[in-house]
Amino acid sequence: MKKLFGILFVAGLVAASAVANSEDDIKARIAPVGTSCMSGDDCAAAPAPAAAAGPKSGKDVYSSFCTTCHGAGVMGAPKLGDAADWTARAGKGLETLYTHAIGGFNAMPAKGMCAACSDDEIKGAVDYMVENSK
Ligand code: HEC
Repeated sequence: MKKLFGILFVAGLVAASAVANSEDDIKARIAPVGTSCMSGDDCAAAPAPAAAAGPKSGKDVYSSFCTTCHGAGVMGAPKLGDAADWTARAGKGLETLYTHAIGGFNAMPAKGMCAACSDDEIKGAVDYMVENSK
């Protein structure tokens, strides 16, 4: 009798797992977590990646990178909000400031050490500092 119960128990387990492993279950379990979109694919339905949120604002770039030196005036960096510091600089013309911010100028490192920033993002940060230092 004990043996029969054992056999029934095992048979029950096998039957249960057979149900759980129905084809749909397996498909659901092995389905890819994300979808990939290769060039040439029709990816209209693919959700846009959350990280690619467009260019950073001048304020964001300033707060993440430029403030390290331009917040306190490290090594003679013109301070944000200091009109005297910035009017002298602005007199050179915005284009010159952009060029110096992007390419570097004395102790001012190229792109303010934001290697991943686009030229336009750096220009935005320059605009932000000039605008907020009048
Ligand atoms: C490591 C410190 C440091 C960081 C970070 C930094 N700067 Fe500067 N920056 C300086 C210094 C120092 C000067 C002054 C250079 C001089 O006049 O000799 C300067 C000058 C400038 C000038 C004036 C250039 C001129 O022609 O007078 C601009 C514009 C500028 N920085 C923009 C930026 C922007 C935009 C960022 C952030 C993306 C940034 N800087 C990040 C140190 C820094």
